[in-house]
Amino acid sequence: MDRKITIFIILAFVGIALADLDPHHVKLALTKQTDQYRVTWFTNDQGSSPSLLYSTNTFQPQSGAGSAAVFGVQGSVESFDTPHWNGHSNTAVMEGLSEWTTYYYSVGDKETASWSQVFNFSTRGFTQTPFKFAVYGDMGHGGVGIDRDENYTLSGVVQRESELDFVLHVGDIAYADLKLSTIIQGNETVWNEFLDIIQPVSSILPYMTCPGNHDIFYDFTVYRKTFFMPTDKPTQSWYSFDYGQVHFVSFSTEHDYFPLSSQYNWIENELKTYREKNPNGWLVVYAHRPMYCSVKWKWCKNKHESRKLFVKTFEKMFFRYNVDLYIAGHVHNYERSLPVYKGEVAGSYENPKGPVHITIGTGGNKEGPLHGWQEAPEWSEGIRFIGTGFGTINILNSTTLQFDFIGNEKNDVIDSFTLTKGDFFE
Ligand SMILES: *[C@@H]1O[C@H](CO)[C@@H](O)[C@H](O)[C@H]1NC(C)=O
Ligand SMILES: *[C@@H]1O[C@H](CO)[C@@H](O)[C@H](O)[C@H]1NC(C)=O
Ligand SMILES: *[C@@H]1O[C@H](CO)[C@@H](O)[C@H](O)[C@H]1NC(C)=O
Ligand SMILES: *[C@@H]1O[C@H](CO)[C@@H](O)[C@H](O)[C@H]1NC(C)=O
Ligand SMILES: [Fe+2]
Repeated sequence: MDRKITIFIILAFVGIALADLDPHHVKLALTKQTDQYRVTWFTNDQGSSPSLLYSTNTFQPQSGAGSAAVFGVQGSVESFDTPHWNGHSNTAVMEGLSEWTTYYYSVGDKETASWSQVFNFSTRGFTQTPFKFAVYGDMGHGGVGIDRDENYTLSGVVQRESELDFVLHVGDIAYADLKLSTIIQGNETVWNEFLDIIQPVSSILPYMTCPGNHDIFYDFTVYRKTFFMPTDKPTQSWYSFDYGQVHFVSFSTEHDYFPLSSQYNWIENELKTYREKNPNGWLVVYAHRPMYCSVKWKWCKNKHESRKLFVKTFEKMFFRYNVDLYIAGHVHNYERSLPVYKGEVAGSYENPKGPVHITIGTGGNKEGPLHGWQEAPEWSEGIRFIGTGFGTINILNSTTLQFDFIGNEKNDVIDSFTLTKGDFFE
């Protein structure tokens, strides 16, 4: 054989043997279909056969693919395709999941048999109430405090895992853009370290996200290819899903949302279509930036033009389609509103005549909480909290929802309210 070809073959072989296909950042996500979970994971190199194995019994991944009791799913892989970002994002979907069942799974590459550990999670009643999910925004890597705030949020969620169905992270993920040099391109080291620290949560509970202003790198391609949310098109950052008789709609405050934009049309169509078919169903919307907040900080100021325009764009629409709850982060504090419309209290928690707003950018991050409140507005209710923590929302049934805010400091509930499903037009 030609010496050059021999050397080439040897090098190619060594290349394959050295390919680093160890799976990292294992994450679950809900899809459009209630009996499916998507799994995503990161590899440094690109494998030829990204695969997912899962079963209702634990198994050895090496032999798992050959066992009849283990499902093997062929995944797909994409590179980030952006300067300064290396590595590959792999994804595959578990189908036909049953409620109230424990599953074991492993991801990796079939060809080279490089598998992750075997993870396990238990499904809950994804078509029924009651169900409960955790929510926070603005959680990053390297939070302030001796022990780093985000560790407490994550361990608080893991502790309650057996009663939770999924997690919402309402934007500002990782804070991989804080240095001047990384505002545009982000910092993959920080991003990846963050995805490592959330794995104890993201590998056992579906981790649902929306983009924040700290997630903009390369037109959000890094964000989108990391989380693979159930969008209609791969290039979109807005989506909806149904869970336990609640319709969830998520959109991006970091993309064009003004009338005539494709996002605006999508949101309106989404709310309208759902409401026409489900006049009495719970409708929960989440995105990064709040409409109602009362911190002494630019976005929340009465005269902040962008916020006023944001409110003008969506408040009437949310009212028209009877959106029960709007959840946002951006502000690194916790506060909640009474049902409110056009700045005025509208009804009560027992008989709401407008959406209730929760601001919960309390996951913990390098920037820390914001200090200083405005005089409490009329719509403000419950405590206004400076510190870190997270919320849990328990959808008890078709008419009652229970919200708790858990403060990280003592890992206990420091604020609660009960909301009755409202009909704004009755
Ligand atoms: C299931 O996963 C948890 C961690 O989430 C682990 O502690 C436990 O040992 C696992 N169970 C089995 C049977 O593998
Ligand atoms: C916080 O989490 C990181 C990542 O898991 C870990 O390395 C660090 O030791 C934790 N800090 C504390 C104080 O637990
Ligand atoms: C990215 O973050 C890592 C870890 O904090 C740091 O060492 C590195 O200098 C950062 N890169 C840039 C371009 O700022
Ligand atoms: C929903 O749960 C609340 C609180 O437990 C209860 O008062 C109410 O009657 C329930 N409603 C329905 C329709 O089951
Ligand atoms: Fe933000």
